[in-house]
Amino acid sequence: MRPTVSLHNVSKIYGKGRSAVCALSGVTLDIMPREVVGIVGPSGSGKTTLLTLAGLVEPPTSGRIHLGAATVITAATRDGRLRALRRQHIGFIFQKANLADFLTATENVALAGIVQGIQAATARRRAQDLLALLDLAERLNHYPSQLSGGEQQRVSLARSLMGSPSLLLADEPTAALDAGRRDQIMAVLQIMAKQQGVAMCIVTHDPRTLQYCDRAVAIADGRLVSDPPIGLGASAGAQSA
Ligand SMILES: Nc1ncnc2c1ncn2[C@@H]1O[C@H](COP(=O)(O)OP(=O)(O)OP(=O)(O)O)[C@@H](O)[C@H]1O
Ligand SMILES: [Mg+2]
Repeated sequence: MRPTVSLHNVSKIYGKGRSAVCALSGVTLDIMPREVVGIVGPSGSGKTTLLTLAGLVEPPTSGRIHLGAATVITAATRDGRLRALRRQHIGFIFQKANLADFLTATENVALAGIVQGIQAATARRRAQDLLALLDLAERLNHYPSQLSGGEQQRVSLARSLMGSPSLLLADEPTAALDAGRRDQIMAVLQIMAKQQGVAMCIVTHDPRTLQYCDRAVAIADGRLVSDPPIGLGASAGAQSA
């Protein structure tokens, strides 16, 4: 089986000259279909940067990113191409739900489909199905201000699944949630990974969230480190470049 995404010796430098920051250095990582990979590391170690590159938000400064069999992204890849690939293949979830206040739950989710070219009525139906799947059938016409934090996060998850992504990237998706909601979100992510073949990469500080991951990768000072943090268990693995 081919990885959904492969990072090959990828580095990212922000800025130039004396203000340059090397946020990632020589990172090599494969994420397979159905695999849920946890990313751990201290603040400023490069976790969000790793998601930004794997999610094709920005190109690497050096190295290559392979998406599926045929697509290779390098420093020379143009923004327009990144954007098109991102829309087609990638979903994101963030710590904050980032919903549009003036749209209902259904509209927030449907909009993500309409942006991707899905016809409005179809997008609306699919949005309602996804929200029902996430236990929000009773909240379809609620505005974000009328939803709890956990409910908003589930709307955000439905939105990220709207385009049927092959790769789902999550930056601290459970940080703002209580234990029950965290378990609910992680259980849904695990089902999406195993049933739909979605590859997932989840940044987290929470050992309980890591329990839902197939393996954990530790990052320090922009490099993958071979020793996973204590408590991740024998299945935790990491690669160094
Ligand atoms: N757009 C940017 N411009 C300049 N430097 C940046 C930029 N984004 C990140 N950095 C720097 O790159 C390094 C890695 O940042 P990153 O956001 O990836 O860390 P992180 O591991 O996600 O941290 P946290 O746990 O605090 O979210 C940090 O030193 C940060 O200051
Ligand atoms: Mg971060």
